Amino acid sequence: MTSPRWTSDLATGNPDIDRDHQELVEIIDQLKAAASGGDQKARLSNSLDRFRSHVLDHFPSEEREMEAKAYPGLAKHRVAHAALADQVLELVQKDNAGETVLFSEVEHLAQALYRHILLDDKPFALYLVKG
Ligand SMILES: [Fe+2]
Ligand SMILES: [Fe+2]
Repeated sequence: MTSPRWTSDLATGNPDIDRDHQELVEIIDQLKAAASGGDQKARLSNSLDRFRSHVLDHFPSEEREMEAKAYPGLAKHRVAHAALADQVLELVQKDNAGETVLFSEVEHLAQALYRHILLDDKPFALYLVKG
């Protein structure tokens, strides 16, 4: 089974967060296409770079928003972000070391990110609505 493209299931209802997540899903799609290409190393490296900078920008921005809104789940969310960021950096380091980043590894991480959106980001968006 492959992870989904953007669907309404992934929408949190918060426009800023959703815009970021839509871009993330688009980058992941691009990354998966590059990872299945096999011989297009430069394309994969570029996608990984875009992926890394998006994630390393998105996570702190979500955390700042949570801090500003005194979200009680912030500490747990930070831990989840750190674990996901580590996995992203692991792929980048693998690529930088000249090793092959496999489609299955990208897919595994994509699934983890989608689960994070559904199970961790959505409750925050709900918290924002409820106030
Ligand atoms: Fe998050
Ligand atoms: Fe997020």
